[in-house]
Amino acid sequence: MTALQDRFEALFSISTEISSTLELEEVLQRVVAHACRLMEARVASLLLIDKEAGTLRPAATYGASVDYLALPDREIDDSLTGEVVKTGLPLYIPDVREETRFRVADLARREGLCTLLAVPLRTKTDVIGVLNVYTGEPRCFEESDVRLLTLLATQSAIAIENATLHRDEMEARERLRQSEKLAALGKLSAGLAHELRNPLNTMSMLIYAMARELPADGPLGADLQIVQGELRRMSLLIEQFLEFARPRPPHFQRERLEEIMEETLLLLGPEARSRGIMIYKEWDKNLPRVWVDGTQIKQVFLNLLLNALQAMPNGGKLTVRLRESGGSLLTAITDEGEGIGPEARANLFQPFFTTKQGGTGLGLSISQRIIEGHNGRLRLFSRPGTGTTAIVRLPL
Ligand SMILES: Nc1ncnc2c1ncn2[C@@H]1O[C@H](COP(=O)(O)OP(=O)(O)O)[C@@H](O)[C@H]1O
Ligand SMILES: [Mg+2]
Repeated sequence: MTALQDRFEALFSISTEISSTLELEEVLQRVVAHACRLMEARVASLLLIDKEAGTLRPAATYGASVDYLALPDREIDDSLTGEVVKTGLPLYIPDVREETRFRVADLARREGLCTLLAVPLRTKTDVIGVLNVYTGEPRCFEESDVRLLTLLATQSAIAIENATLHRDEMEARERLRQSEKLAALGKLSAGLAHELRNPLNTMSMLIYAMARELPADGPLGADLQIVQGELRRMSLLIEQFLEFARPRPPHFQRERLEEIMEETLLLLGPEARSRGIMIYKEWDKNLPRVWVDGTQIKQVFLNLLLNALQAMPNGGKLTVRLRESGGSLLTAITDEGEGIGPEARANLFQPFFTTKQGGTGLGLSISQRIIEGHNGRLRLFSRPGTGTTAIVRLPL
């Protein structure tokens, strides 16, 4: 048997092994490991296309150091590997260290990378990414090498596509299960919250009357104040929860957003002052009116502004901007707070997700739903340590 035959046989058993799992991560790992061994290369890497971003995202590597792993996504329109996607053809670079179009020649030198062979990951209908192998010494890849790697890439692309479909389906199923569970739970707890309202009100009233009878500086008076504070917190939680669990449909009217904003800021003035926060307002006088439910939008502004204030315990600048843009009215609320970390980022809009002591974790999920009810969009941009901007886009 020739060496070539050996390699094609290896390829056959590799293909079988790669597609024997539906775990996407596992498939990707197997592809790069096998590509590296099959081609007797030093490093193999696999990039997948992120269609929305127009980039190639490193999805798996074998034999590379963390420096290589830390490389950012590549622009499809402006990178060597991007060319493989665009042309759909293999790319052979005898020495990446000498190649000016290879952006990370330094890194290649440090990693000891020399020759690159890159082939498209092609499914029946699409190119979904690129498979790269790098050798440590100059290598002259032959036609049969290219054909072998292309075959491996094709088998891999099918396995990746299957695993991706499988993952999407599992996620969809899980989401459905979750939302059914949540719906049932929501009904139950809304009922419970509603029932808690009345006794809570009675208690609040009685405690209020008691507190008035007692000297505020006595020990009992101080305790009662704490009790009152906790009761307020419970009421807020219940009100917010009911708002969340039993939303009312919006009642649309033509409103001036800047007036709603002014009213909301008025409510928050004392809170801002006590934290040493300066509020800056930036908007034009003649903004068009928007078709909104004023009460609901006020609640959204209140939630976003409160979050901004709470993010700045040691004071800072809070900037509110309103402007018209492309058929929408944009509201941007920028704080100089601690920003949002990656863990919080993933859960921001989850009901009950909070990083605050005494937070309800409902502000953003209620706000998001209200804004969606207005066919608008709510997004948060944040840089940890620098601050956060919440942007509300409402159609005109
Ligand atoms: N402006 C902001 N700066 C930093 N973190 C924020 C900001 N807005 C929201 N967050 C994060 O999102 C979480 C959820 O916010 P939210 O739904 O309003 O609930 P809560 O304010 O009760 O915690 C907060 O606990 C916080 O971690
Ligand atoms: Mg909040």
